[in-house]
Amino acid sequence: MGLSVKRTQTLLVLPGEGIGREVTAEAVRVLDWLRAKRGVAVEATTAPFGSDAYRDQGQVLPAESLAKAKAADAVLFGAAGGPEFDAIPEAARRQGNLMRLRRELGLFADLRPVKAIPALADASTLKPEVIAGVDMIILRELTGGVYFGEPRGVERLPGGKRRGVNTHEYTSEEIHRIAHFAFELARTRSRRVTSVDKANVMEAGQLWREEVQAVRDAHYQDVALTHLLVDTAAMQLVREPKQFDVIVTDNLFGDILSDCAAMVTGSLGMLPSAELGVPDASGRRHALYEPVHGSAPDIAGQGIANPLGAILSLAMALRHSFGRPEDAALVEAAVIDAVGETRTADIALAARPAVGTTAMADAVIAALEARTATAPAKRRRAT
Ligand code: IPM
Ligand code: MG
Repeated sequence: MGLSVKRTQTLLVLPGEGIGREVTAEAVRVLDWLRAKRGVAVEATTAPFGSDAYRDQGQVLPAESLAKAKAADAVLFGAAGGPEFDAIPEAARRQGNLMRLRRELGLFADLRPVKAIPALADASTLKPEVIAGVDMIILRELTGGVYFGEPRGVERLPGGKRRGVNTHEYTSEEIHRIAHFAFELARTRSRRVTSVDKANVMEAGQLWREEVQAVRDAHYQDVALTHLLVDTAAMQLVREPKQFDVIVTDNLFGDILSDCAAMVTGSLGMLPSAELGVPDASGRRHALYEPVHGSAPDIAGQGIANPLGAILSLAMALRHSFGRPEDAALVEAAVIDAVGETRTADIALAARPAVGTTAMADAVIAALEARTATAPAKRRRAT
């Protein structure tokens, strides 16, 4: 009788390797603030993944961690890779790497937004006028292509030589699925999609181009579609990044282009990502949120890593998994406020000393406090 009991949603944190541990801890502090101050009913628990899990349980991705990841409303992932992980025998790594997790959860759509933050213009190596106003999303297909194709491996040839093989493959169905996602996404933005392939050399690239075009012609005539070869796309990304809105591309090209595009924001440490699965009948989908930066073994454990990629990944989870778009926008606005004054080493201003990981997150929390403490009538827009 009108009584609705709101279920507490769950976030499983898999800190993983290197700085993944430090940055996810700070994102959880931001979540704690949102729970306490904004009534966000999301509970975070942590499970082992990676070299710690291998050392303690003999498995990189223990069955229990995988089960928890499948049961959770969303996963916040820190980072994979680095020397401790690389020391694990190949077979064990393959059993439990990030690729397996993506495959198990069916995370075919990887959203990597790249938005210029004016206050950070000086942290980019590109000219301020080149990056001003950049606002794009790289949509990377995440469960197909050369990262998963069979056959794969290294074989010994007679005479002691070796031969390494990976297979780049896509079915029309896989291409359709990501193409639909791209066009739907474009409809929430400026209705422009750039599809990136290597159709001049690769047959699978030709198929990619034809099928993306076919999906557009059949269902999305209101969206403008252009095709670019990946080498041209890489060049255009640094030449004139403003021209892009939604870029849809395969697993390998998306991996490369998203690191490249990250420099528009001045630092790889700023970039969040959302990895989404296929919705079930109730609309619920598996989702994993991850800063793009990776494990950064060179600075791991020093407390100097930039936690903003992880905090912005939490914001994406609020938007795409937890139905809290206003809190997502609030966190994003607080991050922009925070970097005005306070910065980790990767984005530091010459005139000011860099702060550590925890102090950077403290600044975000202080900005959240400041934004929500203002009288509602005077509240700045949380965009
Ligand atoms: C990324 C990373 C991963 C990938 C690595 C760590 C396997 O580079 O998420 O972009 O290649 O997908
Ligand atoms: Mg990458």
